[in-house]
Amino acid sequence: MDYKKIVADAVFKAIDGQVATEDIYSKIEKPKIAKNGDLSFPAFILAKEMHKAPQMIAQDIVANIASDDFEKVEAAGPYVNFFLSKGVVSSDVIKDVLTKKEHFGDNHNGDDQVVTIDMSSPNIAKPMSMGHLRSTVIGNSIAKILTKNGYKPVKDNHLGDWGTQFGKLITAYLKWGNEDDVRRDPIHYLVQYYIRFHKEDIEHPEYDDEARVWFKKLEDGDPEAVKLWKWFRDVSLEAFNQTYKKLGVEFDTYNGESFYNDKLQDVVDTLKKDNLLEISQGASVVDLSDENLNPALILKTDGASLYVTRDIATAIYRDKTYHPVMNLYAVGSEQTYYFKQLKAVLKKMGLKSASGLHHIPFGLITVNGKKLSTRHGNIILLNEVLDESVKIAKQQIVEKNPTLADKDKVANEVGVGAIIFGDLKNSRIDSIDFNVQEQLKFEGETGPYVQYANARSQSILRKAQDIEIKADGNSLSDEDSWEIIKLLQSFPDVVKRANEEFEPSVIAKYSLKLAKSFNKYYAHTRILSEDNELGARLALVQSISIVLTESLRLLGVKAPKEM
Ligand code: ARG
Repeated sequence: MDYKKIVADAVFKAIDGQVATEDIYSKIEKPKIAKNGDLSFPAFILAKEMHKAPQMIAQDIVANIASDDFEKVEAAGPYVNFFLSKGVVSSDVIKDVLTKKEHFGDNHNGDDQVVTIDMSSPNIAKPMSMGHLRSTVIGNSIAKILTKNGYKPVKDNHLGDWGTQFGKLITAYLKWGNEDDVRRDPIHYLVQYYIRFHKEDIEHPEYDDEARVWFKKLEDGDPEAVKLWKWFRDVSLEAFNQTYKKLGVEFDTYNGESFYNDKLQDVVDTLKKDNLLEISQGASVVDLSDENLNPALILKTDGASLYVTRDIATAIYRDKTYHPVMNLYAVGSEQTYYFKQLKAVLKKMGLKSASGLHHIPFGLITVNGKKLSTRHGNIILLNEVLDESVKIAKQQIVEKNPTLADKDKVANEVGVGAIIFGDLKNSRIDSIDFNVQEQLKFEGETGPYVQYANARSQSILRKAQDIEIKADGNSLSDEDSWEIIKLLQSFPDVVKRANEEFEPSVIAKYSLKLAKSFNKYYAHTRILSEDNELGARLALVQSISIVLTESLRLLGVKAPKEM
């Protein structure tokens, strides 16, 4: 609703139409401080036409305003300050939510431009750990937020499926591997071989030489090396996909590091042609001293490519394929320096999307105080954490709502949602320690708390199915509903801010506030009591449910209607 229009019309009437509404409209301002009202009209612009002192005009306008759209209208010197009545704002916001439904808060700022997001990107033959959870769920949520802001995201899973570690893995497998074991429980056994390799190569440095040979063979396309590598990749991807399915996350592409193998020579040639490549102690590097960064190592002394070589090829490929306005990387903060180097190299190469390259860092994650590492065998598997969470959710549901139909489905939505929400409610950059029990509490800052508020609103709406919902919020001017209205009204801005900051926690924190305000309202108000305002209260409850559900969706969390 255009509040300026309401003010302009009222002023127009108050001055007997001496100045056109459009001219009034264009001069209306939004005061910076709340005590000056919601909108303000500078009466001095009428001084010439009306041959009167601005202060006088302001006072006359105040005296002649006849509209209950305003709670009060005040003259402040040459200004007229308008305070909108809560009823007007309420009915307006609620009408807006109820007509737009899940599209409430959508905007077109992105202008349909493409944004690539590098996300999840686990390493083949290693379990997807809690460490990759953050990249997966942060990237997934940012993609949804981008869409809501009118962008077209492309989610790319940059699998770590290439590098010298595959030489080690092949060596280890050929020494100690067992085909049946790998078929039965691929990641578990592959990790065991890898761990054993790292234990034993301390006493057997020759293992490292063997591993180097195997990686070289792999690079040269040796059939045995390629066959094993492909097999490891396939079984790993199968396992990852189970986790993605649980999390409800999908990707547009899985172009892992290996996808860029045949594009690396081009990178090297281009760098050479642009005179960017220097030889330093036998290795090829790009000097970045003008950016105050260490040189980027492009080729090792033996000519082998590196992680960054593949990332340069990736960025060029994305640029050519998608023409993105932004190229985002949801990757842990330990790689911050690395992404500065990558961006600097790409800028030197004149890549179009280089200026739109943003590293979206996030902090470390620990589970019940335990750090995560594959090498030393101290791993907590994401899959196990998810399963545990679903199990606890199921117990809670059985206790609290024994008659609920479809308990398993709801337990899944609550258990998985709790883990996702528990991650996303934190500012990305903060390190978090994860306690699964804690995240599943129905009270406090948790996913289930928000889900439960939504389920409660749905249950109210179910009970009142036959009653007409009235979107004219005129009767809703009590303090609790006003707090909710203001929150609902701010949702479109929250959506924009989450996008600008690439920060899902903005949405998560918002949803907690809205759920809390609703619970307060619920505690103080007999929502279903049969009086004149019942329809308006139901409209409020429905609006809350729409926005809670949409907030959770933006986080990648389901909103069960009953739990
Ligand atoms: N596979 C890497 C890791 O687990 C993350 C890859 C991030 N993406 C990229 N384009 N560098 O650390």
